Amino acid sequence: MTTTIALITGANKGIGLATVRQLGARGWTVLVGARDAARGREAERTLREGGADARFVPLDVTDEESVAAAAKLVETEYGHLDVLVNNAGIVRADGSAMPSETTLATLREVYETNVFGVVAVTNAFLPLLRNAPAARIVNVSSEVGSIAVMTDPQGALFELTSVPYPSSKAALNMVTAMYAKELRDTPIKVNAANPGYCATDLNHNSGFRTPDQGAEVSVHLATLPADGPSGLLWGFQMDAGGGYGVLPW
Ligand SMILES: NC(=O)c1ccc[n+]([C@@H]2O[C@H](COP(=O)([O-])OP(=O)(O)OC[C@H]3O[C@@H](n4cnc5c(N)ncnc54)[C@H](OP(=O)(O)O)[C@@H]3O)[C@@H](O)[C@H]2O)c1
Repeated sequence: MTTTIALITGANKGIGLATVRQLGARGWTVLVGARDAARGREAERTLREGGADARFVPLDVTDEESVAAAAKLVETEYGHLDVLVNNAGIVRADGSAMPSETTLATLREVYETNVFGVVAVTNAFLPLLRNAPAARIVNVSSEVGSIAVMTDPQGALFELTSVPYPSSKAALNMVTAMYAKELRDTPIKVNAANPGYCATDLNHNSGFRTPDQGAEVSVHLATLPADGPSGLLWGFQMDAGGGYGVLPW
């Protein structure tokens, strides 16, 4: 029996590390995408000690050569990819995080990772995903990328005004919807994940959920059955009392 192969970007810590741990616990081969070799190898070691068939894959999502080399490695070693979790992401803001204080340098930096990186990685791995019987693509997004959530005066996020990170996740939501459309006549499903506010380095560990709880959302979308949905933003619903479900774009 061939094993299921999953690649998770930004997998050396936070929600990404929890995602590889949970997918590895299913007996899958988990490819630990990380841009820093020392951090990647350390994550690989920890996961292997926990019994996972984990392998570090050097991958900086903003570096085209790195992306191409990672795709080549997976092609040579495995010939296909069953699951791609585009998890790598960064947060940046200028000044008091008002739109009027946003610099283009910050905007470009965030988009390079959160949007362009996802498109680059997805396109590089799409031939390998097409080689799998029924691949799943999970784009780790956020409810702050939902224009409906962010503009709801009664919602918990109404006071947030930052442009770089929220707009990058809004763009990622559209990216997700468009790939789902292109691939609608294939067995491949493409969805955006909302992990909820999880305590990681991204937010100086201020989140009220754990990285493992955030990873549950990615794992759910990575393991959708054949009749599961495609082209949705799905996950933690803060404004609906904290359950899981579909979020508005
Ligand atoms: N935490 C939350 O509350 C929350 C909520 C909603 C969505 N998310 C999303 O969840 C995802 C994971 O975030 P997290 O909270 O787990 O944050 P984190 O702990 O800061 O982890 C981010 C990961 O992304 C990696 N990364 C950053 N830039 C990269 C690049 N150019 N190439 C490859 N890897 C890169 C980081 O690697 P280094 O260690 O090398 O920096 C790290 O492994 C992100 O997409 C984030 O936007 C998080």
